[in-house]
Amino acid sequence: MSEDWTETYRPAGLDEVVGNPKAVQELRAWAQTWVAGKPIKKAAVLMGSPGTGKTSAALALAADFNWDVVEMNASDQRNADAIKAVALRGALGETFSEDGEYLSSKEGNLKLIVLDEADNISGREDRGGIPAIAEVVRSTKQPVILIVNDWYALSRKSSALKSGTQQIKFNRIRTVTVRGVLRRISKDRGIKITDQALRVLSENSNGDLRSAIRDLQAVAMGKQEVDEDQAAVVGFREVEQTMFQVMDDIFKSRDPILARKALLEVDETPDTKLLWIDENLPNAYRDNLDLYRGMKAVARADNFLGRVYRRQHYGFWSYANDFLSFAVCAAKQRDVRGYVRYNFPSYLIRMSRSKGNRALQANISSKLGSMIHMSAAGVRQDFLPPFKQMFQNNEEFRLHMTIKLELDVEEVAFLLDAKIDSAAVKRVMASVKKSTTHPSSQSKKSISPEPEMKKAKDGSSSKPAMCQKRLFSF
Ligand SMILES: Nc1ncnc2c1ncn2[C@@H]1O[C@H](COP(=O)(O)OP(=O)(O)OP(=O)(O)O)[C@@H](O)[C@H]1O
Ligand SMILES: [Mg+2]
Repeated sequence: MSEDWTETYRPAGLDEVVGNPKAVQELRAWAQTWVAGKPIKKAAVLMGSPGTGKTSAALALAADFNWDVVEMNASDQRNADAIKAVALRGALGETFSEDGEYLSSKEGNLKLIVLDEADNISGREDRGGIPAIAEVVRSTKQPVILIVNDWYALSRKSSALKSGTQQIKFNRIRTVTVRGVLRRISKDRGIKITDQALRVLSENSNGDLRSAIRDLQAVAMGKQEVDEDQAAVVGFREVEQTMFQVMDDIFKSRDPILARKALLEVDETPDTKLLWIDENLPNAYRDNLDLYRGMKAVARADNFLGRVYRRQHYGFWSYANDFLSFAVCAAKQRDVRGYVRYNFPSYLIRMSRSKGNRALQANISSKLGSMIHMSAAGVRQDFLPPFKQMFQNNEEFRLHMTIKLELDVEEVAFLLDAKIDSAAVKRVMASVKKSTTHPSSQSKKSISPEPEMKKAKDGSSSKPAMCQKRLFSF
């Protein structure tokens, strides 16, 4: 498996956690109350959007204080008992390795209990999870860190959690900071990267350092030089550059004919153009009446676009274009001056985020489809949900399918509803590696009562206990 730069460059100590200095300082101070033996709040909640360093900060804290870590992920069997068991064992002075093996504890040291994705639990079936967390927070003898993206979802279900924890907020990482990290990594890898490419990557990350590092790895892996043209994401940005200019031509100019020409010249579909104008018009037209008239023109353009698709009459495109440019430009009575902040259409950003997931789903479905002789669409609709359930609930099945379908780490994460860097996903990938490099150990482990299955061609067949046996046992 190739190296994962987000893991390689995970901060080793709190000093290396970039951005959010206040959060880091609060976290350190909270840990010191534990060292002093007088924690006012026994648990800390790290909240904030993805890729801002919450998990990293928790692990870095443990490293700095030389604490063992007992890590639980929402994708682990997160029910009340499991959570209590971990806290209790923590309290008794035992701890686990990532594989769930006992490790003898470092004498006298505290053990940091990290409940990652603690907000996920509320959306799940396992009732009792939230009271169990609250109970752990109340009675734990060890420091507890809850990590959440959406604190509100969790806290509104438990006032005890709200009052018993210290809440520490992680904000999105600033673009300049992200850029600094990317520059450092590039330097470390001996990659020459242009400032423009760094700017593009950091701006696209939207304050999510994990995705920025992943993007950098995607464009730079195996290269010595990266410029903006090589960055795949630059395409995205180039559109933005031209659309920026066109926005100015429409919103700021007093010349509707020029506006019309400018919009016609951009090589984008009218739908995309409409999204840009719809998104940015309110930023530009500050006068209510101007905005009203502008939006009315956008609405008319939308009507024509609808007609294009309904009647398959592409001649209507030009009307849509005219409304978006000429009419929007002419709608204002007050001049628009100075700097206007334009945004990339949020709808497109949302779509491109879910695109990753959709592509994964399609990939897995087609792999499964060719295995069970079913169309990918059919698999996606009828078969994927139960398959996912089985995949999550049966370890043997999970291992077997991961090998059989040659699932990669992203696909496993998708099927487990877990993050790519979660302990559960790592565990699966590690077992796969183990059993593919030591086929003998795998065949020893598989519980396969039927002799003919044992003789299966790759020797790694195992009986998926909770599923239709025939389907998978070839
Ligand atoms: N503040 C940071 N300082 C240094 N590296 C960071 C920081 N934030 C993120 N990273 C990098 O991004 C990776 C992912 O970050 P991390 O797992 O800590 O994010 P997170 O806040 O826990 O995200 P999520 O909510 O998705 O779990 C890390 O392995 C590290 O390489
Ligand atoms: Mg995390």
